[in-house]
Amino acid sequence: MDQRPGAAIESVPDTEEFLGDVIAGLSATPRTLPCKYFYDQEGSRLFDAICDLDEYYLTRTEIAILEAESGDLARHVGESSVLIEYGSGSSRKTRLLLDHLESPAAYVPIDISREHLLDAVVRLRGRYPSLRILPVVADYTAQFALPRDLPDARRVAFFPGSTIGNFAPEEARAFLARIARTVRAGGGLLIGVDLKKDAETLEAAYDDASGVTAAFNRNVLVRMVHELDAELDPERFAHTATWNEAEGRVEMHLVSEGRQVVRVGGVDFRFEPGDRIWTESSYKYTLDGFARLAAGAGFRVEKVWTDPRQRFSLQYLVASPPLR
Ligand SMILES: C[S@@+](CC[C@H](N)C(=O)[O-])C[C@H]1O[C@@H](n2cnc3c(N)ncnc32)[C@H](O)[C@@H]1O
Repeated sequence: MDQRPGAAIESVPDTEEFLGDVIAGLSATPRTLPCKYFYDQEGSRLFDAICDLDEYYLTRTEIAILEAESGDLARHVGESSVLIEYGSGSSRKTRLLLDHLESPAAYVPIDISREHLLDAVVRLRGRYPSLRILPVVADYTAQFALPRDLPDARRVAFFPGSTIGNFAPEEARAFLARIARTVRAGGGLLIGVDLKKDAETLEAAYDDASGVTAAFNRNVLVRMVHELDAELDPERFAHTATWNEAEGRVEMHLVSEGRQVVRVGGVDFRFEPGDRIWTESSYKYTLDGFARLAAGAGFRVEKVWTDPRQRFSLQYLVASPPLR
């Protein structure tokens, strides 16, 4: 029997929106595809595999901070709070928090990858039988509502994984400002923010030797074939990851391995050898740079935890009252 609970809301891109975004992205200069389309069930599985790679220091460093600082983190989140997680994926890191939280009022995991989210919720219900879990299947870059039966309690958002790095700085500011409005003045945001470091470490993290990140990057092409009947061979695009020092971001691209035509939605897109599709950015921050970004979104940094090598940070931000 399928024991997965229904999700509170379904507001994820449908096939028409996916097609529209693909045609708009491939028609633009430079050519782009939105990174949210990496994540169907296979994309989420590949992302979980990335998290276990030696090169991907982000997950194990953030988990080490969560484990070492669990008591302090739980004190900041506070008693009887509603925990709202953006891009919860497998909720693996959340378990480290939930294990230490004092009587959480509810947990609201939000993710675009429906099956993966609902599978994670089944596992969480088994582990925390008395916790109110209210999953929301949504594209968090679009408008969506929180569950109507959300308890009226202090709200704390959780946004780990340095997923904030996938937004360009102005988009990141606008996104954080939306979270500030959601948690309301005095509410909190516990966020994982990856820090600037040497190019070699950064590029290896997004281009592992075993090719898992390459498969993750190509998954958007695989989805175009399966869901949009696109005529293309994903294997004729190579994966690259490069640190762009001037912009402070790692860029992932898919590079055409020859002359080819991609046909999707009745439109032909011609590629010469070496032509690129830009699929993801991962912006990296300094602690000061992120504090400025957060301040512009209405958040004050209350506490920062880092690992001894200052590779990654977890930060607790408090939402300020809106300016009149
Ligand atoms: C980089 S992964 C991080 C997963 C997990 N939070 C962690 O820290 O390991 C990004 C997560 O956000 C979800 N996601 C990406 N774009 C999204 C969007 N636009 N709306 C909702 N969820 C999204 C993905 O499905 C994935 O679970």
